[in-house]
Amino acid sequence: MPQLSTRHLLGIKDLTQTDIQLILETATQFKEVINRPIKKVPSLRDITIANVFFENSTRTRLSFELAEKRLSADVVNFSASGSSVKKGETLLDTVNNILAMKVDMIVMRHSSPGAPHYLASRIPANVINAGDGTHEHPTQALLDSFSMREKLGNLAGKRIAIIGDITHSRVALSNIFCLQKQGADVMVCGPTTLIPKHMAALGVRIGHDVREALAWCDVANVLRIQLERQQIKYFPSLREYSLYYGISRQMLDELDRPIVLMHPGPINRGVELTSDAADSPHSIILDQVENGVAVRMAVLYLLAQEK
Ligand code: CP
Repeated sequence: MPQLSTRHLLGIKDLTQTDIQLILETATQFKEVINRPIKKVPSLRDITIANVFFENSTRTRLSFELAEKRLSADVVNFSASGSSVKKGETLLDTVNNILAMKVDMIVMRHSSPGAPHYLASRIPANVINAGDGTHEHPTQALLDSFSMREKLGNLAGKRIAIIGDITHSRVALSNIFCLQKQGADVMVCGPTTLIPKHMAALGVRIGHDVREALAWCDVANVLRIQLERQQIKYFPSLREYSLYYGISRQMLDELDRPIVLMHPGPINRGVELTSDAADSPHSIILDQVENGVAVRMAVLYLLAQEK
């Protein structure tokens, strides 16, 4: 049976092209499973997984939990709020205490870039990064690629524009690595202040005109303005951002060919997308959420084979 080259999923940067292919092909099989009347398979029976979330989440957390339950794993959920972290316990002590209860895998979201890498080098369990600060969000990039492939087929040569707050986004970096490993042509587009200088070194196109980006691309993956991570003002006002970078249904309808509209969520409606764009036939935003369960099932299933 084919296996991943790694026993943790810390970032897309560490995955090979073959790993990505294997995860996406396995997810196709699990998508078929979760659309059956009986959505559950016994693949992870007797495996216990802890979802350890030090930051807020709706989609990723519920999606991992559903994926684990569909695979028949035992699941425990941990939130930093209401836990002994508030009494000063360290990350490593917290996780080692969870592991002492015979937990096999840790799914972790943390505000500090590198926190899952730190854990993975110190604990015996598999670690899956569910988003580490502004660094990586590997399962989001995998589900984004899965969703793009459902619409466009093989991504080699396809043009993907990632539009919005690139500076504070973990989704952007994971998507860039994932798309480039599949041969896609990637552009990042946003105000100069929201595109970090190191982007040029990653071999992506850089744009500042959202209409030009939409006219160029096959897929527009639009990112949220992350006000909670912005300690200083990166643009004069949300109104001005929306005026220059907001995407409306009319802008999509006026393109000379249809494009696919994506957003990892949560959406700031009326800021990066108008409601009529987010809810339009161009949008596959809820397909992304559905595919997240299948992709996370694939990741969990493949990593469990590495034990
Ligand atoms: N896309 C995403 O990570 O959403 P949540 O923050 O709700 O998990």
